[in-house]
Amino acid sequence: MEKRRILVTSALPNANGSIHLGHLMEHIQTDIWVRFQRMRGHECIYVCADDTHGTATMLRAEELGTTPEKLIEDVNAEHRSDFYDFAISHDNYYSTHSDENKAFSELIYNRLNEAQQIKTRSVDQLYDPEKEMFLADRFIVGTCPKCKAEGQYGDNCEACGATYDATDLINPVSKISGATPVMKESTHFFFALSNFTEFLTEWTRSGALQDQVANKLSEWLDAGLQDWDISRDAPYFGFEIPGAPGKYFYVWLDAPIGYMAAFQKYCEANNVEFDDFWKQDSECEVHHFIGKDIINFHALFWPAMLETAGYRTPTRIHAHGFATVNGLKMSKSRGTFINARTYLDHLDAEYLRYYFAAKMSGGVDDLDINLDDFVQRVNSDVIGKVVNIASRCAGFINKQFDGQLSATSDNPILAEFSAGSETIALHFENGDYGKGLRDIMALADKANQYIDEHKPWVLIKEEGKRDLVQQVCSDGLNFYRLLVTYLKPVLPRLAEKSEAFLGIAPLTWDDLDTRLTGHTINKFTPLMTRIEPEKVEAIVNASMGEAEPEQEATTEPESPTIEFDDFAKIDLRVVKIVNAEHVEGADKLLQLTLDLGDETTRNVFAGIKAAYQPEDLIGKLTIMVANLAPRKMKFGMSEGMVLAAGPGGEDIYLLEPDNGAQPGMKVS
Ligand code: 2FM
Ligand code: ZN
Repeated sequence: MEKRRILVTSALPNANGSIHLGHLMEHIQTDIWVRFQRMRGHECIYVCADDTHGTATMLRAEELGTTPEKLIEDVNAEHRSDFYDFAISHDNYYSTHSDENKAFSELIYNRLNEAQQIKTRSVDQLYDPEKEMFLADRFIVGTCPKCKAEGQYGDNCEACGATYDATDLINPVSKISGATPVMKESTHFFFALSNFTEFLTEWTRSGALQDQVANKLSEWLDAGLQDWDISRDAPYFGFEIPGAPGKYFYVWLDAPIGYMAAFQKYCEANNVEFDDFWKQDSECEVHHFIGKDIINFHALFWPAMLETAGYRTPTRIHAHGFATVNGLKMSKSRGTFINARTYLDHLDAEYLRYYFAAKMSGGVDDLDINLDDFVQRVNSDVIGKVVNIASRCAGFINKQFDGQLSATSDNPILAEFSAGSETIALHFENGDYGKGLRDIMALADKANQYIDEHKPWVLIKEEGKRDLVQQVCSDGLNFYRLLVTYLKPVLPRLAEKSEAFLGIAPLTWDDLDTRLTGHTINKFTPLMTRIEPEKVEAIVNASMGEAEPEQEATTEPESPTIEFDDFAKIDLRVVKIVNAEHVEGADKLLQLTLDLGDETTRNVFAGIKAAYQPEDLIGKLTIMVANLAPRKMKFGMSEGMVLAAGPGGEDIYLLEPDNGAQPGMKVS
């Protein structure tokens, strides 16, 4: 097999928060792929970094009474230790606030500029006169111009789903100082992305993207590309643009360049030639693992920048969906917004590595962590099917045969184990770890069946059966060795402990063709124990931290009294949600099709996207206001309203009638 040279990255975590399940899903997915490639004998370098720049870092540091530099240094140490404890094998975990990144950002920008792909344009934006800074939409709040709900952000309304410009808000205030923002004009720098439609149309179909992703991008390409605003005005924590005092690179300009900077740092320390990997037409591979929310940055802006600056473009972008917990978005109030450290305080990292892997298919669908299923799956597969083989067989070999395995090993089941290696390798290569693990567990089932049929614990009591016991248990340990070889990218620590107990060198994919014969193993020590469900409960309890202020449940003051006749005007009905879908371009809305039980359906846009997955809503009963005048929204006509409780965001709960209610029933 030809030796590949591969550079791999995971998206750079933001430096203003802790590592949580969402980051872990991505880093574990990447790490499994990287470890697999290394086991196959390829050179595979894995780099990542903290994404440090931007207004959020600046404000967070201010809030904590520290400097951005100190903040990002502390966070970097925390992130490194979290990833290390999850056995993520970064070769370099760096920071975008580095000399290398500054140098590469300036170099790439200068090349874009020389290629006349940088333009300047005057932009009008809301400005905080007290804080003396321009305000991004999320730093402005005010009253919704449509439904008059208070406390809405500068881009859209959580209450009614309307989208608007920050300048349309009634009584806008700066979230930072409380001052009323004023309109101010400023010159911004733009990357002329609109010149790259042809290049990107071709590039996005070149095999670097999953089909689903390429299809989504062709919709965007057909709609036409806009030039990309790459500058921000001072005060901003970032790199100043060469020749433009007071103007800074927008964080998303220097973030992907951070991949190169982290790799450059690695190259210096390890005598690797940077250009081998990044020159145009390089034979080395570059793979980025990212979430589906940042596809535009990686599959449009990034290849266009690289192409213009004279570098190669990525070999493949592996996009994945979001992590949900028990079918819902991770939420602080439900205790499912779980930080890496909180998990580690209670459970072994490898349980989560296994569970994520078992649910990964290499596609862009969301991945649900069902906490009951997590316990059940890991206990049944890893402990019940795999580790159990070692503990069943090692005792006999240690106690009865002084640790010595039989001299021969020609059990035909072992041949079956080896025969699966290329199919399983292909599943790992494709990121379809779920399929790979199903194949591996089918082999584990065969191994257990074999041991159950031969019952060494019975044979050992029978005359003249000692050799057979030794053979069955030696075969068992050979089964175990092969299973652990297959599982090593997913469970590297179990593999390491197993290598020590078996007294063997680090396992590689080639070891799938060999057997342990006449070999002496070491004393068996427990390798992994079952997950106790109470530990999961403890994680959830410990994660019920303080809710984000804007999501905090509040007791709303009672509205003014109304007459019964006013109430009677509202026609509330039980309805069945027969379809639920995401709405293209809407951050907060789901589109619901509601069955009123009289063969009519209604189309309703509901601001519940942060709290529900569409597929979990289908089939549910809820209550709607059936006689609300239809409203024209940006995305279509909304023909009514569903009732939900809670302050909003992810903290919103659809009302459900009690058992027995039927679609169409009037609510009174
Ligand atoms: O979405 C995020 O969290 C970004 N910090 C990811 C950056 S990835 C890359 F481009 F640097
Ligand atoms: Zn509104």
